[in-house]
Amino acid sequence: MRIVDSIKHSMLLLKELWHNPKTVGAVWPSSDRLAKKMAAQISPKHPGFVIEIGAGTGAITKALLARGILPTHLIVIEQSANLVDHLHEMFPEVVIIKGDAAHLRQILPAAVNQINAIVSSLPLRSLPNEQVSVILNELHALLPPESKLIQFTYDLFSKEERYMEGFRLIKSFSVWLNIPSAKVQVFVKNVKSIQ
Ligand SMILES: C[S@@+](CC[C@H](N)C(=O)[O-])C[C@H]1O[C@@H](n2cnc3c(N)ncnc32)[C@H](O)[C@@H]1O
Repeated sequence: MRIVDSIKHSMLLLKELWHNPKTVGAVWPSSDRLAKKMAAQISPKHPGFVIEIGAGTGAITKALLARGILPTHLIVIEQSANLVDHLHEMFPEVVIIKGDAAHLRQILPAAVNQINAIVSSLPLRSLPNEQVSVILNELHALLPPESKLIQFTYDLFSKEERYMEGFRLIKSFSVWLNIPSAKVQVFVKNVKSIQ
């Protein structure tokens, strides 16, 4: 990304962080490297829609499109109005929905009948526990058993089972070229449902 864009995007994120520290949970947009590694976990040939939640400034959205996910098969959810405006400007061809991931089933368009993968930048460790539980329930209800949930965390030494109830970790790796360094985690849902 050009340095000017990078600064512009981080200013946007900092502004959001100032007003909503717990829901933003990042001081700098995801690096191209992290975004590319997240997108690489998805096969564009796998049928269905890719749902991105907590898209922020769009770093991962951009990488998903570069990966070959068709704009018609990408649905982006972001709860901040300012960031939604920014995402609309950056990706006019993609469906961007202003909404809360806790109401995912309600806000997804009816045409979303099959899901390839869900990609999340949500700061699950800084959101309140009850909200995380509701969000995980939504993701669990939506995700087919063979589909992936791709999440990143800045907690490189995390015990993921503690907060990803209902999901099973199938892959995890660090991405050092990010501010701060991050860990990509790929989950599938457990067969037995969560309550
Ligand atoms: C870590 S930031 C996103 C970083 C993003 N990858 C980037 O490069 O800009 C997390 C984003 O999740 C959004 N968010 C937090 N809680 C949310 C929720 N419940 N539903 C939808 N979006 C949410 C925040 O507004 C913020 O934009």
